[in-house]
Amino acid sequence: MPIIEWDESMATGVAQIDEQHQELVRIINQLFDAYQGGGDRPTLEQVVRRFCDYTLAHFALEEGFMERFGYPGYDTHLTEHMDCSMQAIDFFTAYIEGQDTLTAEALNYLVSWFRTHTTGTDRALGAFLNARGVF
Ligand SMILES: [Fe+2]
Ligand SMILES: [Fe+2]
Repeated sequence: MPIIEWDESMATGVAQIDEQHQELVRIINQLFDAYQGGGDRPTLEQVVRRFCDYTLAHFALEEGFMERFGYPGYDTHLTEHMDCSMQAIDFFTAYIEGQDTLTAEALNYLVSWFRTHTTGTDRALGAFLNARGVF
């Protein structure tokens, strides 16, 4: 069973952002599967790298939109992206430097951060962009 599923409560109304969120949901589930599968380090490391690369590109997309349209909530939104990035770096560095596996704490953090951020902060950005003709 997936640890997280995309649903309409996460929809921002901006196609590019929603597609990337759906891919992030898939990657988080792959992370969870690899974690539950237990011990296949190459697979888990590959998914961790994919998560990091994809998340960075996704944050850059949203930040680009915010800059282009002079979004008033830019600073708060950016801080949330930074918090997630720093936390993910901490979790993954511990893992890559030799910890046996990812921790449940790390996965729970990512799932809960993603859900809260997407349904709140990203949706607010989506509404702002929609009002400016970006869908
Ligand atoms: Fe965001
Ligand atoms: Fe997002």
